[in-house]
Amino acid sequence: MKHPKIIAIYGSPRRKGNTATLMKKAVEGARDSGADVEEIVLRDLKISPCLEIYGCLKAGECAIKDDFQMVRDKILDARGLILASPVFFYTVSAHTKMLMDRFQSLWVKKYWVHETPQQQQTNHRKGLFISVGATKGNKLFDGMLLSVKYFFDVLDMELWKALLYRQLDFQNDALKHPEYLEEAYKSGKAFITAIENDSND
Ligand SMILES: Cc1cc2nc3c(=O)[nH]c(=O)nc-3n(C[C@H](O)[C@H](O)[C@H](O)COP(=O)(O)O)c2cc1C
Repeated sequence: MKHPKIIAIYGSPRRKGNTATLMKKAVEGARDSGADVEEIVLRDLKISPCLEIYGCLKAGECAIKDDFQMVRDKILDARGLILASPVFFYTVSAHTKMLMDRFQSLWVKKYWVHETPQQQQTNHRKGLFISVGATKGNKLFDGMLLSVKYFFDVLDMELWKALLYRQLDFQNDALKHPEYLEEAYKSGKAFITAIENDSND
């Protein structure tokens, strides 16, 4: 497949923070492998939290009209998603979580409106997740990884890889670790190779 379409979502409120720095490297790697990458910064968009009104019960379409529909359509049209969020209280940032929650409308569409059996779920697309946290505990990423895995599931995406870095707190901390930047770059490249290999199956 030529130039696979990839969406890269920046979920931190800090524009030049650690996840953004690592994400830029992953995006660079993906582009160097020939991917067509579109970057989306969540803090620039207007996305309401899910209001749990279940307007989506009618046809699986979220009733709140804002930037969610644009982001959803781009993600659904892509072969892969790179998502970056810092750890905020042991889960993803509020910006990221608001986007995730709005995808409940897609969950409703699949399982309630179209009554797709769970076994028929196909993870035919891939996700790369990037996160950082300030502390160093073993369980630092446990909470968010569950959220991210099930978010990718709704998108028919396999969590291909998670790049998780501890003890990064101040804005430029990631820059002090060239080995992390290198890993992010190489992962961006390998992500595209994995997507292309899948397409050749
Ligand atoms: C609201 C808030 C909550 C946070 N919660 C945690 C936490 O639970 N565990 C942790 O290790 N770091 C926590 N941090 C620190 C951030 O994960 C850390 O500063 C990270 O480098 C920010 O990434 P960014 O530069 O990409 O925004 C928190 C920071 C903020 C602002």
